[in-house]
Amino acid sequence: MLPDSGPPTLAQYLQAASDLTTRGVAALTGAPSADALEEARIQLLGDKRGELLTLQKALGTLPPEHRRDAGRAFNEAKTALTNALDERRAALSRGATAHAQLDLTMPGRQRWVGGKHPVTVVIDEIVGIFRELGFTVALGPESESEWYNFGALNFPPDHPAMDLHDTLYLGEGTLLRTHTSPVQIRTLQRHAPPIRILAPGTVFRRDPFDASHAPAFAQIEGLAVDEGISFVDLKATLTHFARRFFGATRTRFRPSFFPFTEPSAEMDVECRLCAGRGCSACKGTGWMEILGSGMVHPRVLEAAGIDSERYTGWAFGMGPARIAMQRYDLPDIRLLYDSDVRFLEQVAE
Ligand code: DAH
Repeated sequence: MLPDSGPPTLAQYLQAASDLTTRGVAALTGAPSADALEEARIQLLGDKRGELLTLQKALGTLPPEHRRDAGRAFNEAKTALTNALDERRAALSRGATAHAQLDLTMPGRQRWVGGKHPVTVVIDEIVGIFRELGFTVALGPESESEWYNFGALNFPPDHPAMDLHDTLYLGEGTLLRTHTSPVQIRTLQRHAPPIRILAPGTVFRRDPFDASHAPAFAQIEGLAVDEGISFVDLKATLTHFARRFFGATRTRFRPSFFPFTEPSAEMDVECRLCAGRGCSACKGTGWMEILGSGMVHPRVLEAAGIDSERYTGWAFGMGPARIAMQRYDLPDIRLLYDSDVRFLEQVAE
């Protein structure tokens, strides 16, 4: 501070200049708003009663030999305060512009939070329907032995399905399972009847990846083994399932062949797109094939160590991806397997 009256000593002047700089720069830099900054500017740099002006006037009261040092201190204080004022002014106006550009009424960007894949939705629903009937879920390995995948399921040693064209071999005697049917054998080996299981899983075939084939796709296997099980149980259970899942009014069974079932049947449901009249989706037949099934071959039961005189059973296998294609009206199975989020967000539940 300068003395209230009379000229200051050089030391007092230098101290006053330094105090003003420290205090003034802090006040300007810390001004929270344009108004507060203007107030501080008037107080410090005002051209009527500003503190810097007082310091300038005191300069003239000093003896001439001290004016050079005092003048330098004055100039330094002035530069520091002016710079601090300019910087703070610029910062506050940048903030004001940014604020003006921020439109708080603009709707936020919607982020897709994800959902269940359509094939998973179908699998969960199928499993849910069979759960109500007392079925539980069983799982098996994706890398299998030839015996579980083919031999135990009564495929003759030269069956064409084992051909390199269909099966992806991992090595001598091991392969990527071509269907979920080996889970039947693993379950029968591990548990005594009564057995009621559903085995969803991925299976692999050397198929081209085109509109109706994928080299890896989902399957669901079903198996029921007990005393006194007959084809009536198969037909009644699968018909109940078709009504529940498809809301199908009509179903039909066609004779078929699988090495591991005898007799074997494929089940069709009335095409839901044309209500049975015939369209491109059902190739004009009015029916959609949804699964293969049959009475478990006695040789399959025996291969798994189950007494085929005492126990009988039925089984089925179906492709949830094909069912998803029907349900969501999809033209190409690849949509379900190449994970394009633009597609998935339209159908995911
Ligand atoms: N495993 C057969 C396939 O991949 C599907 C199948 C048909 C499974 C009939 C079964 C069945 O359990 O009984 O084509």
